[in-house]
Amino acid sequence: MSLSINERSRNLIVPGIRQFANQLVDYPDAVNLTIGQPDFPTPDAVKKAAIAAIENNLTGYSHNAGIVDLRIAINSFFNDTYGFSYNPDTEIIVTNGASEAIDTLFRTILEEDDEVILPAPLYSSYEAIINLCGAKVVYLDTTDTEFQPSAERLSSLITDKTKAVLFNFPSNPTGVIISPTQMDALVDVLAEKEVYIISDEIYSENTFEGNHKSFASYEKIRDQLFLLHGLSKSHSMTGWRIGYVLGPQEIMQHVLKVHLYNSICASLPSQYAAIEALSNNRHVPAEMNKEYIARRDYVYNRLIEMGLEVVKPNGAFYIFPSIKEFGFSSFDFATKLLKEGGVACVPGSAFSKYGEGFMRISYAYAMPVLIKGMDRLESYIESIRSQQSTTANTSK
Ligand SMILES: Cc1ncc(COP(=O)(O)O)c(C=O)c1O
Repeated sequence: MSLSINERSRNLIVPGIRQFANQLVDYPDAVNLTIGQPDFPTPDAVKKAAIAAIENNLTGYSHNAGIVDLRIAINSFFNDTYGFSYNPDTEIIVTNGASEAIDTLFRTILEEDDEVILPAPLYSSYEAIINLCGAKVVYLDTTDTEFQPSAERLSSLITDKTKAVLFNFPSNPTGVIISPTQMDALVDVLAEKEVYIISDEIYSENTFEGNHKSFASYEKIRDQLFLLHGLSKSHSMTGWRIGYVLGPQEIMQHVLKVHLYNSICASLPSQYAAIEALSNNRHVPAEMNKEYIARRDYVYNRLIEMGLEVVKPNGAFYIFPSIKEFGFSSFDFATKLLKEGGVACVPGSAFSKYGEGFMRISYAYAMPVLIKGMDRLESYIESIRSQQSTTANTSK
């Protein structure tokens, strides 16, 4: 058939994570450290709330923005936890996961040839949606600043074409959180500019030391800011598809139109589950964090012992060591590690070209899996180092 399709869809590339995961099926004995979702079950009370909703026939459409009780619960959660407030009637929309919030928001605000600044390495969905909108990504390199976006660099990248700047802290793939002083400096730059700020804080509840600070706590950028969030990570609810976008009323009325034409509303039983998660199960992420911290410490210490360069992450459940010393592309390194070393990690290039030279390890896995994975990684690294030193010696 010779019918064409949308050129921008044709040009989308399959995410690096998916390309890599496709190889995994051929190596069933590999230790898989690629998955970006918690390995805990959804809390029982949350499951029961959805079951009760289904049994009470609460299975139809809801208000396009989500049921009002959920929007109230979202506002109460942010107000109690972080001290800022959004109007549940006009400033909060419940979406099908944070993914739909990203798509809906970008399609609401972006026009062709707009530029969006993204600190990189970064989660790949943003770029794909920006490209689908005909807008352009401008990267803010964070690889030489311990993955913290520099305010000076940000300032130098802002042009007349810049429509938005997006932040994602705690970060996927690096696991770093943004320091409060760095955040102050970024906010000072952005408050002076006519640009939107989008903050994807989906990993906020997985902050390990100190308290998460939200961009929404800065009053002076409130009319430029959109906060993206959801329950996938904090309450291990990736399959329930509940996310939310919070922002200024003036723009949110347009975000709501894009959302309603796209999906009408989020799943209703999941919305009832979300109320339970945000009201009576706020303690759940802290319980998961105890486990993540023990795993993070274990994996970090093992990587350091292996002599790999790595920034210690303080949130999410990822760690992003450098593999530059081996001289392979990150895709080749990850492929060889899978085939010859029996461990699957995501090549850093899946997180933009700025992730080249790194690999992402997820520690959303039980300790015995991590121990086996680190043992295998260590043996593999030793074998490459000894091969490389033999080659270097024989070529002298
Ligand atoms: C930074 C970031 N934002 C958004 C998402 C998507 O979340 P959801 O499952 O709620 O669509 C992910 C998923 O991995 C993520 O890592």
